[in-house]
Amino acid sequence: MKFFIDTANLAQIKEVNDLGILDGVTTNPTLMAKEGIKGEAAIMNHYKTIAEMVKGDVSAEVISTDFDGMIAEGKKFAAIRPNIVVKVPMIKEGVRALKWFSDNGIRTNCTLVFSAGQAILAAKAGANYVSPFIGRIDDANWDGVQLIEQIANIYAIQGYETEILAASIRSPLHIVKCAEAGADVCTCPLEPILGLLKHPLTDIGLAKFLADAKSEK
Ligand code: E4P
Repeated sequence: MKFFIDTANLAQIKEVNDLGILDGVTTNPTLMAKEGIKGEAAIMNHYKTIAEMVKGDVSAEVISTDFDGMIAEGKKFAAIRPNIVVKVPMIKEGVRALKWFSDNGIRTNCTLVFSAGQAILAAKAGANYVSPFIGRIDDANWDGVQLIEQIANIYAIQGYETEILAASIRSPLHIVKCAEAGADVCTCPLEPILGLLKHPLTDIGLAKFLADAKSEK
């Protein structure tokens, strides 16, 4: 399973990239606004900076909801760098845009996916990634991880090549469960990624090894 970080914060991207385990970045308009990135020029420049920092794919989300607008925005994003992937919402015009991008060699990530039916549509339209939002599903009292499992099953049966990008991750356990459920990618905020490191027995064991190493001297 690939690891993406879900942020527009450059310091956080660098922190995980420096560990050598980062495969890509996802952003969305909320995450860009959180970093104070506003206006087309600043947004394009920020995507360029991120795309230059990491080797893997960087999702840049369109804010248009009509076909022509999405195509125009997507073309501009795709021209920034080859590792930019255009993030398109799962709406009717979005499906049309996904197909157009796919036919024209522009890679995409279909976002705001909350059901297996939507995931089938994204795959049929040729999306490179599909992003089920598992945390938001859990928040609404459904089972987000179960959706990942269902989509993975359908994609395997049907031979769809779209990669399942588990999004809206809230905890280290979500990451582990998504790996078990067959996600191809997990996009996570910094905290759940660092949370994977933690185990009290590791800390206790290390403290003992270091203490014993000192006493041997
Ligand atoms: C996905 O690409 C989205 O940016 C993200 O995972 C949404 O997560 P949230 O539900 O924590 O906002």
